[in-house]
Amino acid sequence: MRKKITVIGAGNVGATTALRIAEKELGDVVLLDIVEGLPQGLGLDLYESSPISGFDSKIIGTNDYQDTKGSDVVVVTAGLARKPGMSREDLLQKNAAIIKSVVQQTAKYSPDSIIIIVTNPLDIMTQLAKKISGFPKNRVLGMAGVLDSGRMRSFIAEALNISVKDVSAMVLGGHGDAMVPLPRYTCVSGKPITDLLPADKISAIVERTRKGGAEIVNLLKTGSAYYAPSAAAAQMVEAIIKDKKVVLPCAAYLEGEYGLKDVYIGVPAKLGSNGIEEIIELKLSAAELSALKKSADVVKENVNKLGA
Ligand code: NAI
Ligand code: 2OP
Repeated sequence: MRKKITVIGAGNVGATTALRIAEKELGDVVLLDIVEGLPQGLGLDLYESSPISGFDSKIIGTNDYQDTKGSDVVVVTAGLARKPGMSREDLLQKNAAIIKSVVQQTAKYSPDSIIIIVTNPLDIMTQLAKKISGFPKNRVLGMAGVLDSGRMRSFIAEALNISVKDVSAMVLGGHGDAMVPLPRYTCVSGKPITDLLPADKISAIVERTRKGGAEIVNLLKTGSAYYAPSAAAAQMVEAIIKDKKVVLPCAAYLEGEYGLKDVYIGVPAKLGSNGIEEIIELKLSAAELSALKKSADVVKENVNKLGA
């Protein structure tokens, strides 16, 4: 039987994620939004592309959670996107109200699903989703690290004039200005970039990665990135649906790992059919650990503001 994947929020990230999931034939896709007609129109348009692109996933759009019933994976992209000058944290209260209602419905109609949160501020919304759903920690995770690492990989490939496929990068921490790109764990065919690029170039890449979301917002002016974010979300869905056991940086709930407790933060995690199956603990330097703790403190502070 085909798997069922629901994408909530049929905006830029949601619609593109639905397309990527369908094109990878990961299962049938339900696209849900509160705006009447929007998910139905996009769903039909996406479905009509299937004979041309040659995929056999069924896609429907809906405003009714009944249609999402029994989903295996639910990707939540519902919410407001950042506008120029707006920080991710500015979105906190508005998107928290959206996440509460979306996750309540998800838990009701798909009690066995794995929830991937995309909505910003990412780590805080993911922590809220865990609380509202009552799901175990392995079944609630957030998408950010794959995107941030993807950005870093692309900047490195450009700087060295090499294939992006040869670059692996590791970005930990919260999806905000305090994220923690790790040059020591960022490699080209196994060689750390600290051996390949001068320190000032690495610092510039780290800074550009941290500001990667804002760079796109400032260019687009009317919204935020969605091609790379949807590629990242679809990669996580694929890892779960295909039980790939692949290690990807994800927002995961920590209970002592990296010396952090009761907080969602980006760390490398093994993804498979049970969602987060293992958290990988990298050996960090004192400075790296302290940066991760600082990033977690920002998440905790905002989680406390929400009482989540
Ligand atoms: P968008 O504005 O294009 O789409 C958001 C959609 O959510 C709209 O269609 C809206 O009608 C819908 N929506 C609002 N309330 C809803 C509700 N209660 N139920 C169902 N649908 C609802 O925004 P975009 O660009 O798709 O971004 C979506 C979210 O993802 C934003 O919060 C953005 O900041 C975040 N984001 C996070 C990234 C990450 O790395 N975690 C990367 C890119 C975006
Ligand atoms: C990004 O990093 C807006 O969080 C989003 O592009």
